[in-house]
Amino acid sequence: MTPIICTDYEAMSLKAAQLAGEAIPRDRESLVSFPGGDTPLGFIKEFTKMVNAGAVDISRVRYVSLDEWVGLGKEDRGSCACFNHTHLLGSLNRPFLETHIIDGKAADIGEECRRLDDFIAKYGPLDLSVLGIGLNGHLGFNEDGVDFELNAHIIPLSSTTKKVMGKYFDREYTLERGITQGLKQIMAAKRIILIASGAHKAAILARSFRGPVDNSVPASILQNHPDCFVIADREAAAEL
Ligand code: PGA
Repeated sequence: MTPIICTDYEAMSLKAAQLAGEAIPRDRESLVSFPGGDTPLGFIKEFTKMVNAGAVDISRVRYVSLDEWVGLGKEDRGSCACFNHTHLLGSLNRPFLETHIIDGKAADIGEECRRLDDFIAKYGPLDLSVLGIGLNGHLGFNEDGVDFELNAHIIPLSSTTKKVMGKYFDREYTLERGITQGLKQIMAAKRIILIASGAHKAAILARSFRGPVDNSVPASILQNHPDCFVIADREAAAEL
């Protein structure tokens, strides 16, 4: 794990976008995945700026979303699909080669999992996985206690996630499950970039990267990845 400590949120976002741009191969097709949430907003803004300016070529890049709330679709504000369409896909002035956005409203959610697995199996492994981190150390919806060996799966939302999820939505939802890429797929990514911002993330970052590798803190598995950058602002990095 390579830690990069940035002065502030803007510097963290820019650094992550630069490293993401570098991770995209120029000579072949590739597959990338970005997270939803508050943390990646700045990163995605910087990344789309680079693409729109022609500094990063995504014409041979496929994009796959990381996770979704089971029960929400792209028309629901606060869903990961809505986030992806609004902040990423809708802000690009040229398209990815192909996109696969998880549908949390699929009639057969098990089949939606298989579609995600199939897409990653066909075009993967991921060349780049950008991740945020939850207060319980979750990556995507790989909640505490998750099996490190899983591919895409449906998982009950943790009590921590349920406590904080209200911040994403403009109305009250009763959501119980998430659909997510599994840690097996994430760990197979050639490069991982985890971004974290704010004092509230300091303790979980320290537990993830200074504590033992244990599924009670899912992000700790990243200690075993050979090309993983942890980009944090000063507040989030305070206990690293
Ligand atoms: P946040 O979410 O960026 O909104 O803090 C992080 C996460 O849960 O992955």
